Amino acid sequence: MRIGFFQFAPRFGKPEQNLNALVAALTGAEADLIVAPELALSGYLFTCREEVEGMAEPIPGPATDRLERVAADADCHLVVGMAERSGKELFNSAALIGPKGLIGVYRKVHLFHEEKLHFSPGDGGFSVFDVSGVKVGLLVCFDHIFPEAARTLALQGVQIICHPSNLVLPEYGQLTTRVRSIENRVFWILANRYGTERRGGKTLTYTGCSQITADNGEVLVRADERGDSLTVVEVDPERAKNKQVTERNDLFADRRVALYRWE
Ligand code: ACM
Repeated sequence: MRIGFFQFAPRFGKPEQNLNALVAALTGAEADLIVAPELALSGYLFTCREEVEGMAEPIPGPATDRLERVAADADCHLVVGMAERSGKELFNSAALIGPKGLIGVYRKVHLFHEEKLHFSPGDGGFSVFDVSGVKVGLLVCFDHIFPEAARTLALQGVQIICHPSNLVLPEYGQLTTRVRSIENRVFWILANRYGTERRGGKTLTYTGCSQITADNGEVLVRADERGDSLTVVEVDPERAKNKQVTERNDLFADRRVALYRWE
């Protein structure tokens, strides 16, 4: 299976321009699954809720319709982070779009910092989606810091985690996603953005370095800190079904659930 990421620097407040950039990059992509960053259509550094309202879209909606055509033409699955409007609520979401149309939506469960001022947290939990017979799960950025999120997906049989991100803390996400791969024996596509946004007296610099990690924690590819990068690698997702780390250790069978504290 050919899996990849598209790292780029969305322009704040230019959804049309950002969608055009995505469409241009992904049209004809030679891959089975490609992940784009968090809030890839709007940019990230909102100063008020009204700004999100102005750029959020329903899913399905005009943006996902256009991405559906790209996915159909390339015979590829796409995961794209975007601001979602649902009634009066706004979510920081990721849409999974396949060659036959929209497959599912994940609403970010763990909101980061000022996202809490603008978005509602997702309450839909962590779902499993089918991508050409492979079990795939979605997380968005800060979800990476909560090991329970990836574990919940892995315990449901997920083989590949798709992770649209706008990471700002250097190395945290690149490190934790590698650890999550090791502790769950799953493949992990971290699609991060790069660049700097300056708005309302605030500045955020995004860390780039998108990466794909294998089930054994090996970093298969890593993008630079800056610069657009459409990067695809061939992997065997079947490997993620095997949780054996030694002859006597199976990562899931060895869990001592009765001894763990969940609340
Ligand atoms: C983040 O969750 N965008 C850091």
